[in-house]
Amino acid sequence: MKLLSRFPKLSAFRFLGPTMFALVGIISVAVTADQLPTKQDFQATPPTTLGSPENSSYQAKYPNEFATWKATESAAQNTQFGGSGFRDYLAEHPNLVMMFAGYPFSIEYNQARGHSHALEDVNGTKRRNDKTPATCYSCKSPNVASAMAREGVAQFYGHKFDHYVNEMKNPIGCADCHELKTMKLQISRPGLIEAYKSMGKDVKKATNDEMKSLVCAQCHVEYHFKGPDKYLKFPWKNGLKAEDFDKYYEENGHSDWTNAISGAKMVKMQHPDFEVFQQGLHGKRGVSCADCHMPTKTVGKKEFTDHQIQSPLYMVERTCANCHSWTPSQAKSRVYEIQSRNRELLDRAERVITAAHFEIGDAAKLGATDADLDSVRKQVSKAQMYWDYIAASNGMGFHAPQESARVLAKAVDLGQECRLQAQAIRLKFGATGPLAIPDIATKVKAQAFIKPLVEAAAKAAAAKAK
Ligand code: HEC
Ligand code: HEC
Ligand code: HEC
Ligand code: HEC
Repeated sequence: MKLLSRFPKLSAFRFLGPTMFALVGIISVAVTADQLPTKQDFQATPPTTLGSPENSSYQAKYPNEFATWKATESAAQNTQFGGSGFRDYLAEHPNLVMMFAGYPFSIEYNQARGHSHALEDVNGTKRRNDKTPATCYSCKSPNVASAMAREGVAQFYGHKFDHYVNEMKNPIGCADCHELKTMKLQISRPGLIEAYKSMGKDVKKATNDEMKSLVCAQCHVEYHFKGPDKYLKFPWKNGLKAEDFDKYYEENGHSDWTNAISGAKMVKMQHPDFEVFQQGLHGKRGVSCADCHMPTKTVGKKEFTDHQIQSPLYMVERTCANCHSWTPSQAKSRVYEIQSRNRELLDRAERVITAAHFEIGDAAKLGATDADLDSVRKQVSKAQMYWDYIAASNGMGFHAPQESARVLAKAVDLGQECRLQAQAIRLKFGATGPLAIPDIATKVKAQAFIKPLVEAAAKAAAAKAK
């Protein structure tokens, strides 16, 4: 196999000892106190070496890196499951409207685009309102680290989104990943530093090879906003697997919203790309995010790192083919095969979990009390969390095929158990047969269906608050 020999940057050493050791470390470290960091924890690290947040100020010195970074504006035609074009997940999968009923993701949920769109997309999303916290800017701009260095981390998160609209001028760029003078890779965000600390590890001890994934792990991870001050936290202290997150959220009682159909308290997974990736063979063998998303490029005689971060399927010759002796079409078909299987499992889980929400909602209508429904609501929330650990992570199963299949099987299984429980409760409260699922075959129908439910739930919540 010419796996390593064709990839000059990789030595056998890199694939063996250190990364495996580090990975085992990540997954098995003892739990340490879940404390919020002090101001010093953060100030000891990045701001002293923070570069200018102005992306344009790097253009003259690093023209190739700048030009390719700028090219993330591309709106290339989508690949089969991903890509840089537009994709409306709710239109493709209307069941998601039910699963996210009562949460902004049921209003709008589109595929991610290139880094240079990050600000325009977050500023323009229908999910944003005047209560949105500044924390939402955390993964969108190098101006964030500058603002944090100036005002303090907790102070930054404590503000509202609108407070920073004028300051956040630069989309994800140079200072997010590089330090000022040497352009060495560095972590500019406290979230990752604190998450490492919660696992008893120091991210500053990472090797350069590990940094080629860790710079991405500043943003491409699962997180939640903790407490009234919306402090950004990664749920990593038990480990990076779906079960570890399940345990974490169960322990700290966090929920993001209440599903307007079933009344279950739900947790939304964000995009656990780094975590899922670590469970796959590439992650275990020390291949980095940059190996597939930032390959080497040559312009004239100059070789440099391609900063047009995008789907590797637009550049298989410079990514997969560096390590595998496949033709471009072979490499693509490997990916599509894995992704199609993943899609099938996602569809199965979405059908089951949607039905469970309906059946629980119907049981409540028939007269079942919150106490009667407590256990089944907890269960549906879990089923959906496991589904979302894979659904929300990018790569559509490719980053860790076997783990993705395992977690989705668990989601289907948990979802079926819910349906059995919900069915038993419905029968007890007078139902005579299975519940007919309403027609929610399109996004428009699905959104029209949940509208009155969401409004009623909001009214009930407001009345309760009084
Ligand atoms: C072995 C190669 C490989 C590695 C390493 C890798 N990825 Fe991917 N990634 C892929 C492939 C293949 C896809 C699917 C692209 C598609 O469907 O068009 C993908 C998709 C993505 C996407 C969605 C892009 C799109 O256009 O849909 C993101 C975001 C992403 N990966 C982030 C990461 C991060 C972060 C890491 C490291 C933690 C990483 N990837 C490591 C191969 C890789
Ligand atoms: C500062 C936060 C941040 C960092 C650091 C970051 N990303 Fe992203 N990434 C994002 C956001 C936000 C988006 C979605 C932007 C949008 O849709 O407007 C995104 C989108 C992407 C996409 C989709 C691009 C497309 O054209 O579809 C890929 C692939 C990706 N990131 C990979 C990576 C990799 C690999 C790294 C590390 C080398 C990385 N990202 C580092 C925040 C970040
Ligand atoms: C999402 C993270 C990320 C962003 C944003 C980013 N870089 Fe990089 N950069 C990397 C990675 C990863 C490497 C490869 C490091 C390695 O191979 O050791 C790299 C390498 C470099 C290098 C070393 C020479 C080379 O090409 O390999 C320079 C110079 C550089 N980047 C400049 C820039 C500039 C200028 C910007 C802004 C326009 C920028 N980078 C934005 C992650 C990033
Ligand atoms: C930096 C080197 C490198 C790159 C780039 C790379 N791979 Fe791999 N790939 C590996 C290694 C190492 C393994 C594990 C081999 C083993 O342990 O037997 C692997 C295993 C695989 C496997 C089998 C394991 C699994 O996860 O299913 C597939 C499929 C695969 N690669 C596809 C791809 C595709 C498609 C691309 C491009 C998007 C790609 N690889 C890019 C190094 C690489």
